[in-house]
Amino acid sequence: MFYETRENNHGLESSPFNSLIIPRPIGWISSQDTQGNINLAPYSYFNAVSDNPPMVMFATVNSRSDGSVKDTIHNVETQGEFVVNMATFELREAVNLSSKLLPRHINEFLFTELEAIPSKLIQPPRVKCSPIHLECVYYQSVQLPISSEGYTNRVVIGQVVGIHIDDSLIISGKVDITRIKPIARLGYSEYAVIDNIFNMYRP
Ligand SMILES: Cc1cc2nc3c(=O)[nH]c(=O)nc-3n(C[C@H](O)[C@H](O)[C@H](O)COP(=O)(O)O)c2cc1C
Repeated sequence: MFYETRENNHGLESSPFNSLIIPRPIGWISSQDTQGNINLAPYSYFNAVSDNPPMVMFATVNSRSDGSVKDTIHNVETQGEFVVNMATFELREAVNLSSKLLPRHINEFLFTELEAIPSKLIQPPRVKCSPIHLECVYYQSVQLPISSEGYTNRVVIGQVVGIHIDDSLIISGKVDITRIKPIARLGYSEYAVIDNIFNMYRP
């Protein structure tokens, strides 16, 4: 099949696009507003974009129906800092629960009954039971074309200034990712878990 994205004439029940660039890592992002209200939410339009300096991005693909931006975007753009917590298979239900649309002042750490611990270099807290945390400082946002429903889209870029790794994951000088079992987003309501890896060496 072939379809033109601006026509969206794929003839399927829903757009297949989200199933075609996979898996998407999940940035489980804690942030806070300038009054100190804390927020936690997953973003799977998330990735590393540079390793030196280490930079990450996440994107909002849908603003709220009232036209306001999502809390994470608002907080990061106004307060200037955020933490990326690793989303693991063990934490999958809490990750999902933290995506619930809640009023801006509601703290998803309390809503999901997750313990928050302080960061070392920035204000927003970390998810204690997540094994990896990236402390990030806001760099810049990039506006994307508005969606077909008229929602604003934007990419938020941050610089990673501090990294926490649970010591038990470091085996022979390397992070053993199979002990972490990160989860990733596929299309629809599908997820993948990374628990089986293989090595290949460049020729
Ligand atoms: C696994 C997962 C991944 C998600 N990825 C995104 C994303 O990339 N961009 C987005 O705008 N919303 C995404 N969402 C939805 C947001 O988490 C949801 O809109 C949430 O309420 C936003 O919270 P906030 O307003 O506190 O930032 C995702 C939800 C789940 C469960």
